[in-house]
Amino acid sequence: MELIKIEHLGISFDSRTKKKEKVKILQDINLSIEEGEVIALVGESGCGKTTLGKTIVGLYPPSEGVISYKGKDITKLNKKEYMDYRLGVQMVHQDSFAALNPNRTIFQSLSMPLLQNHIAKNKKEAEDILREYFTEVGLTPPEQFLYKYPHQLSGGQRQRILLARALSVKPRVIVADEPVSMVDVSLRIALIDLMTRMNQKYRISFVYITHDLATARYVAKDGRLAVMYLGRIVELNNIREAIDNPRHPYFKALIAAVPSDIGRGKSEMKDLPLRSLDMPSVNNPPTGCSFHTRCPYYQERCEKETPKLREFEGGMIACHFAEEIP
Ligand SMILES: Nc1ncnc2c1ncn2[C@@H]1O[C@H](COP(=O)(O)OP(=O)(O)OP(=O)(O)O)[C@@H](O)[C@H]1O
Ligand code: SF4
Ligand SMILES: [Mg+2]
Repeated sequence: MELIKIEHLGISFDSRTKKKEKVKILQDINLSIEEGEVIALVGESGCGKTTLGKTIVGLYPPSEGVISYKGKDITKLNKKEYMDYRLGVQMVHQDSFAALNPNRTIFQSLSMPLLQNHIAKNKKEAEDILREYFTEVGLTPPEQFLYKYPHQLSGGQRQRILLARALSVKPRVIVADEPVSMVDVSLRIALIDLMTRMNQKYRISFVYITHDLATARYVAKDGRLAVMYLGRIVELNNIREAIDNPRHPYFKALIAAVPSDIGRGKSEMKDLPLRSLDMPSVNNPPTGCSFHTRCPYYQERCEKETPKLREFEGGMIACHFAEEIP
């Protein structure tokens, strides 16, 4: 079943530098999230991954296009459906400090959604539920964490608390934004394995946002990979196929830049010389194909016409000249 469908999504924000002007951060995003599937979302810093994640969970209203949850446009849900959506689609935020109220204990923050949504009948039951998830995410003994304030915990502990918070409301989809970046390497695999278990046990779908291709590959073993560049998805494919056989010139270059073979499949990629190493700003992307200033396969058409994400050899890529690229 398709849980979330994103069609022609655009997000614009007020410009930070020029008053009254808008900057487009996301453009023409099309993506669906099936029940139980894992999608890894990768791309360089500033390309719009967090913005897309926050939009999926309902924190930013679409400036253009439509997001549907269980077949209904999220801007047209009645109160009950909206609550179902907001509870069903959870986010584990990249910035764990900003995501927790500094003036409340962890228990006060995390018990609130459980009580408000009648997942727990009373505080005792809320505590029991949270103890269970704290144990799952390796925060033991739970009482050492439940009654602390966010600033009394480390970044890694806060990230695990956010994961426990997301899991505790029994969601259908979790958008996990760099959820293990602050966690010690020794715990990373355990947390990723926990997400895999939750995915298999409860069929929770995961959108896993990361910079790191090796983690993406590990997390989304049988899932899909979406590659973003300057606010657009440029490649979308089954993850193994995508990494073993990248098709979009940008993704080819990204894979070629991975220093060891951890993120890579069987293919040995040659370095791809880029036309320019300068990364344009997402606030002011180049015209046409936004990769054209750096793409080694650039032709005149690339500057004039924006390529749409289209089917190509079993996956999807946004490039005019896919057929001609070796
Ligand atoms: N609320 C906002 N108002 C204006 N601009 C914003 C806002 N939020 C994000 N941006 C801009 O949107 C762009 C994309 O940001 P975003 O945080 O989505 O990128 P990202 O891919 O998650 O990056 P990172 O990998 O560093 O986390 C950035 O240029 C950022 O400055
Ligand atoms: S459309 Fe042109 S510039 Fe863009 S990736 Fe394809 S060849 Fe390169
Ligand atoms: Mg981010």
